[in-house]
Amino acid sequence: MTRESWQTRIGFILAAVGSAVGLGNLWRFPWMTSDNGGAAFLLVYLGVVLLVGVPGLLAEFVIGRRSRRNPVGALSDLSESSAWSAFGHVFVVTAVILLSFYSVVGGWILRYFAGSFTGAYFAAPGAYFESINYGVEAVGFHLLFLGVTALIVLRGVRRGIERATKLMMPAIVVLLLALAAWGVTLDGASEGVAFYLAPDIAFLQANFLNILPAAAGQALFTLSLGAGTMLTYASYLGEDRSLAADGTAIAVLNTFVGVLAGVVVFPILFALGVGAGGGGPGALFVSLASAFAALPYGQVVGVVFFGVVVLAALSSSISMLEIPVSFLVDEYGLSRRAAVGGLTGVFAVTGAVCALDQGVFGFVAGTLVDLLLTGGLVGFMLFAGWVLGADAVTELQGGSGPLARSLATPWLYAVGVFIPVFLIFTFVSGLADAAGVAVGPLSLLGVTLGPTRILLVVTAVVAVVSFLGLRRSRSVL
Ligand code: PHE
Repeated sequence: MTRESWQTRIGFILAAVGSAVGLGNLWRFPWMTSDNGGAAFLLVYLGVVLLVGVPGLLAEFVIGRRSRRNPVGALSDLSESSAWSAFGHVFVVTAVILLSFYSVVGGWILRYFAGSFTGAYFAAPGAYFESINYGVEAVGFHLLFLGVTALIVLRGVRRGIERATKLMMPAIVVLLLALAAWGVTLDGASEGVAFYLAPDIAFLQANFLNILPAAAGQALFTLSLGAGTMLTYASYLGEDRSLAADGTAIAVLNTFVGVLAGVVVFPILFALGVGAGGGGPGALFVSLASAFAALPYGQVVGVVFFGVVVLAALSSSISMLEIPVSFLVDEYGLSRRAAVGGLTGVFAVTGAVCALDQGVFGFVAGTLVDLLLTGGLVGFMLFAGWVLGADAVTELQGGSGPLARSLATPWLYAVGVFIPVFLIFTFVSGLADAAGVAVGPLSLLGVTLGPTRILLVVTAVVAVVSFLGLRRSRSVL
């Protein structure tokens, strides 16, 4: 099989940013932030993006560029182990789960896009969201969104995506800046700004363990990490790119759009008296729909804004669909048409379940995605650290400048040891949370350490042990 490669460096960066910037920034981020204490969440989230997101992105890049294969092929080729190959299949499942709920939200966006022309949601933005979010009509709009996604993937329009992203990204930023500037001048907006930007440290300390899994999950989701997307995109790269520089640029651009989305949503929510926590999955829809209803020329702004969100969502959903499509084409020799057709049939059903049942939707879009992406990224990192080892360092250094070269070995220890330990901790506490078990089992033994200190102690012990293991097993020093 001859593999394509990106035409330009900026083409790769924009495609990766196109995958990263999507509903995660514009819809899920405000939702997660409002559910988890506002600024306290933002602070933890930014820390995770920097310390986990960027190194994690590089782990996917390194595996992708080295193997030039889809996630399943990459893990089995580079390791020659059937266990890793089996693990690779998890990413196919993850893609199914992701696109199932993503397509439902994409359907909501399409509906708001259409509703902006007619002003359908203007009279009662809150009630409107409640009336369209789940049910038979939501299934219809989900199918529409899925159909557009499938058509684009069917045509293999990477160049189309690249071109669209170039127009989309500035448009998104300009519109968000304008909305933010307007939103913060509203009466009562300052409370929203404070909720979003001034962390309550006492709240943070008391709720750190609850915030952490959500912040880690969101950081991975928004960077498209742990699903194999970034791995696949990097498999089309030539050797001459600096993975570290590109990865940093992608993370910075993506974070900027996410943070900006919060600056738009929260002041408006507070000014309208909706407040935090009243947000949920509807935060973006209710707040912005209200804003557009109140704005002069709100209809026009609504059309443009939701149109842009549709594009951002599509450039992400395409990257989700491409993972299982490339897997079926590469590994089973299916035609692209058969792969897209079959998978679309599956997604039509799994998405419909999410569109009909609010409980299923909430679980899939929140907890399940957090867990799958966290588990997936841990797998990639351990693979880079323990299977590739010194080869991963070489791969990261290829095409890099002096700074990235000197950081390559510390990076390997971070992704091979420290970050997985941290993520496994958040994974376990996320699982415990989902099962309704309070975290902090040491309290049963009468130990009165605070949870944060337990985290530190456990992390330190496991990290030191595996650090020694990594040094002995594969000398990278
Ligand atoms: N990063 C995308 C967004 O923010 C979602 C995504 C996750 C895409 C995982 C691909 C893989 O909308």
